[in-house]
Amino acid sequence: MRQINKILVVGAGAMGSQIGMVAALAGYRVTVQDISADMLAAARRQLTERMDSSVAKGRRTRDDADAALARLTFTTSLEDGAADADFVIEAATEKLETKRKIFAALGRAAPAHAILATNSSTLGSSKVAEDSGRPEQVCNMHFFNPALVMKCVEVVRHDTTSQATVDTTLDLARSLGKAPVLINREVPGFVANRLMGALRDEALRLYADGIASVADIDTAAKTALGHPMGPFELMDLVGLDVSYLIRQATFEETGDPADLPHPALTELYDQGNYGRKTGKGWYSYDPQ
Ligand SMILES: NC(=O)c1ccc[n+]([C@@H]2O[C@H](COP(=O)([O-])OP(=O)(O)OC[C@H]3O[C@@H](n4cnc5c(N)ncnc54)[C@H](O)[C@@H]3O)[C@@H](O)[C@H]2O)c1
Repeated sequence: MRQINKILVVGAGAMGSQIGMVAALAGYRVTVQDISADMLAAARRQLTERMDSSVAKGRRTRDDADAALARLTFTTSLEDGAADADFVIEAATEKLETKRKIFAALGRAAPAHAILATNSSTLGSSKVAEDSGRPEQVCNMHFFNPALVMKCVEVVRHDTTSQATVDTTLDLARSLGKAPVLINREVPGFVANRLMGALRDEALRLYADGIASVADIDTAAKTALGHPMGPFELMDLVGLDVSYLIRQATFEETGDPADLPHPALTELYDQGNYGRKTGKGWYSYDPQ
């Protein structure tokens, strides 16, 4: 297996910026690339603030934070960022056409040995693998939000992902201090989000059947199962619009009516009650 020295992260949004920081903290040289100079500037500012805050809280030394920030560079040029990259993590906007173009460009610009991974939560890497011209070196490397904190990384292989690509990606995740989970076949939602989805579906059924209240179901999840949040609280945090649209997209892919959003969720979505972001979802929130 080839040693990884330089990582390119494509996309400087919520996920890409933190994935870049995780890699820089682990000692890698990292370039974060985005088509938006504003997003890059915001990412640089937010990461600097985060490092300042973790130094102030005694979680890391000033020297470590400064050294990690010095290993991070930002650019709008995919070609510059890819030129000497050993590993690429694509975390751009969740649109297939966008990702296909990025993987085609990476196939041209990145060194022949470079592995090209996508952080997509819903698009299996098989959908972009051929565009890259090196399908066996393509897989999903799926981080969780916030990437600086969450330990799980799902590594999802597609039919022609090589074993060397899988092994290198698992090793990279471990070197970032993460706990990788290997997923042998592309399935919608991979593993963690499927588990969460099953819990959410059962919670919705229990509530809709009048078995228990939203608050009591959340209490049971927290006090009996040890979850940090109940399924309804989590839906409100993530956004009911996100939960609804993911479900709708899954239904469009499978055609299985069982995958449609639950009517209770659809009702809140149709009312524009998306959870914390709108002040009302399963619970009501004080705007302050
Ligand atoms: N947000 C989450 O909770 C979460 C969790 C796990 C995985 N993901 C996945 O991570 C990816 C990014 O999600 P996000 O929440 O960070 O999105 P985001 O909207 O915060 O950021 C996306 C970034 O991609 C940039 N971008 C768009 N087109 C580009 C291009 N052609 N080249 C380079 N950059 C481009 C945008 O300017 C933006 O800065 C998605 O694939 C998503 O499925 C998201």
